[in-house]
Amino acid sequence: MDEAGFLALARPGLRTLRPYDPGLDLVALRRDCPGLVELGSNENALGCSPAARAAAQAALEQVHRYPDPSGGALKSALAGALGVGSEQLMLGNGSHELLMMLAQAFAGPGDEVLASRFGFAVYGLAAQACGARFVQAPALPAGHAMPLGHDLDALAAAVGPDTRLLYLANPNNPTGTWFPRAALEGLLAALPPRLLVVVDEAYHEYTTDPALQSAVGLLPRFPNLVVTRTFSKAHGLAGLRLGYLVAARGLVAVMERLRESFNANGPALAAAVAALADTAHLARVRQANAAAREALSAALKARGLAVSPSQANFLLVAFGRDAGAIEAGLVARGVVPRPMAGYGLPDCLRLTVGTPEDNQRLLQALDEAMA
Ligand SMILES: Cc1ncc(COP(=O)(O)O)c(C=O)c1O
Repeated sequence: MDEAGFLALARPGLRTLRPYDPGLDLVALRRDCPGLVELGSNENALGCSPAARAAAQAALEQVHRYPDPSGGALKSALAGALGVGSEQLMLGNGSHELLMMLAQAFAGPGDEVLASRFGFAVYGLAAQACGARFVQAPALPAGHAMPLGHDLDALAAAVGPDTRLLYLANPNNPTGTWFPRAALEGLLAALPPRLLVVVDEAYHEYTTDPALQSAVGLLPRFPNLVVTRTFSKAHGLAGLRLGYLVAARGLVAVMERLRESFNANGPALAAAVAALADTAHLARVRQANAAAREALSAALKARGLAVSPSQANFLLVAFGRDAGAIEAGLVARGVVPRPMAGYGLPDCLRLTVGTPEDNQRLLQALDEAMA
């Protein structure tokens, strides 16, 4: 039986689902182009804490053992850092896994899952995989101070009787835009308490705007709030796959029924504990990213390009009809951007903020490609 045959046997939601698009083929590009500058996946330009790497290496001695199924040491470190109870935490094989599981647990056929247009691609996948209808509220218009960012009023207006879950990212990927915690508070107060609101804070540790505080502080007031975070971005542990969510303990207890028993692996758990403790490394990462983000944004704007405001470690840049040619020109010069056609933004590329040297190579390649 071919794919179409098996698809006929699968849940109806899978018929329209397109697998997550990870961008350009990095394995082939790395093989063909040594010294590649990889700016397509919003990874940490400075890498992880040396203490985290050492902890992961030490944990490899125990790979014949299953990891701690509850991730107790990491949960208690996270609980202390966030000021929540350990029972309010759930660990995932990346936050991607948790975003998918939330829909699996709380939505299904006949239900709606809501997100903003130009939100993170996984929200639509999560909705379709569980058989729910994916609804997208309009994003803020291009001329707005937060172009293509989340319009919280439009999201509130799009909530209907069948809406079970609302996903928002703060800051958002791929736009880099954000909203202040006060605006989120207003949204939560306006929504029915039966609707679960998932605030995806994958890039939270990179943020520098004081108005952009974490939603974790709102959990005591809003039991329908779920906050997801990850060690993949500012903590630099994307390859180990570790994310977490913070929510009401009752919600975590329900989600735990679905969790695969050893979804967070031993080296990842050990590395994450060490990464959390290395606050000096995280501060360096945040500071270096903020400086490089500003410098790169200014350099791109000086070339006449429209650059979205960003609180994350990437910039969304509009190249107009030349985007495809610029993308090819960058790749030919060993610089990997993220094409945005899959997000309905074919005239844009998303560029991860690299080290100052990476950004210099990007700008040089861009100047040659644009010439
Ligand atoms: C907004 C957002 N949320 C979640 C994720 C998933 O990250 P991970 O599964 O590595 O934790 C990403 C990854 O790019 C992201 O951009």
